[in-house]
Amino acid sequence: MKFFADTSDIDEIKALIPTGLLDGVTTNPSIIAKSGREFLPLIKEITEIVSGPVSAEVAATDYETMRKEAEVLRKIADNVAVKVPLTPDGLRVCKELSDDGTMVNVTLCFSAGQAILAAKAGATFISPFIGRLDDLSQQGLDLISDICRIYDNYPQFDTEVLVASVRNPMHIIESAKMGAHVMTAPPKVINQLFNHPLTESGLAAFVKDWEKTGQSIL
Ligand code: G3P
Repeated sequence: MKFFADTSDIDEIKALIPTGLLDGVTTNPSIIAKSGREFLPLIKEITEIVSGPVSAEVAATDYETMRKEAEVLRKIADNVAVKVPLTPDGLRVCKELSDDGTMVNVTLCFSAGQAILAAKAGATFISPFIGRLDDLSQQGLDLISDICRIYDNYPQFDTEVLVASVRNPMHIIESAKMGAHVMTAPPKVINQLFNHPLTESGLAAFVKDWEKTGQSIL
């Protein structure tokens, strides 16, 4: 499973790189607004430190403007994945960009039917938002299961399932069991995967016992 960081915070991104965990970055207009930074230079900076796909989302909702914005975004760097909403206009942009060899991340997916549409439009990634479904008392993970099953039935679909709106480690683990290709999560959630009380207590015991030996490896 590929791990994308759902953040535009440069320090958070840089901290994940040495772990080898980071395969890409996703952003959205809310994340950009939170950063307080200029959008285009920020995306450029991220593409220079991350070799994998960096999602940058169009701001408009009509075809003509989205198409123009997409041109600007895709010229930032080869590893930009242009993010478009799951609307008829968004999928029209998706089809044109993917036919032209640009990566496209289709966002705001909340149903399996929408995921079929995105695959048919040639999306590189489909982003089902599972946390937001959970917020409405619907099982977000059921959507991942449905999309993975459907895509598996059609080998000609090469769209990757990018689990988004990830809120906790179980979202990641359960999506991985289902075979989702990618997940994007805030670094805080990625780092929660490290945590286990038995790892912590076991390490503390090893450190204590090692001290008793009075030895040093170096
Ligand atoms: O980037 C899209 C998605 O991951 C947003 O997550 O937490 O705002 O629902 P959230």
